[in-house]
Amino acid sequence: MFFNDRREERADKQVVELDNQQIPQHIAIIMDGNGRWAKGQNLPRVAGHQRGMEVVKDITKAASDLGVKVLTLYAFSTENWKRPETEVGFLMKLPGKFFDTFVPDLIANNIRVNVIGYVDQLPASTQKAVQNAIAQTANNTGMVLNFALNYGGRAEIVSGVQQIAQRVLSGEIKPEDIDENMLSQSMMTASLNEYADPDLLIRTSGEERLSNFLLWQIAYSEFVFVDEHWPEFTASVLKRAIKIYQSRHRRFGGLSENKSDKK
Ligand code: FPP
Repeated sequence: MFFNDRREERADKQVVELDNQQIPQHIAIIMDGNGRWAKGQNLPRVAGHQRGMEVVKDITKAASDLGVKVLTLYAFSTENWKRPETEVGFLMKLPGKFFDTFVPDLIANNIRVNVIGYVDQLPASTQKAVQNAIAQTANNTGMVLNFALNYGGRAEIVSGVQQIAQRVLSGEIKPEDIDENMLSQSMMTASLNEYADPDLLIRTSGEERLSNFLLWQIAYSEFVFVDEHWPEFTASVLKRAIKIYQSRHRRFGGLSENKSDKK
């Protein structure tokens, strides 16, 4: 082990009382800081990603236990191809490593795997690992573990608009038929139905930007930024972020917290 188990254990003992009636249904996380964490431990960057993968397992279970319906994790962006080839290669192997060891736990916890992003552009072995996990967990009815892999928010919007433009071109719909609902239906999150838009977006490692993540879907999301690097993220930090979310008053542009006020 190359991380400090004891310190993490202590951090996890902090008790955070949550209102179980107000658990965010969809939590999206920008898992940042793997490289900085590794550097701080005098380890290569990929050690941060390896440790980050183990944290994904813990947080998946924690979110499922809390009653979260969808957990979306930004694992690889359309911009991450710019990283050194060895790092990209390592990241491409992670889904295989993750699912090889974790699918039995996913099944035991009734968790279903879903993926958003341009999966067809990933190496064949990565695609296979992902497709196998989706198939193996397809009948699970609990939380959806939604990986954003080779995902970019702007590209997603462009693809959605192109689909709609094709329908206009074929005469199936008129330009005036296009509305927000149609755009939502054209996003990669459409299959998540009423849970498509995150209630809470968390970014780790102290950075406060969106990095092209879920740009259409975060219109009314609450943002919580935490200082911990992703390899240091624990169930206790997750609960702290949810506590902050619960302390806020969501109005969706209206005057009350009622979602029907959304505009
Ligand atoms: C950002 O940290 C993290 C990534 C680009 C990769 C995220 C991947 C994981 C956490 C593991 C994913 C697990 C599975 C199962 C696919 P960074 O490298 O940008 O960190 P830095 O900003 O400190 O350099």
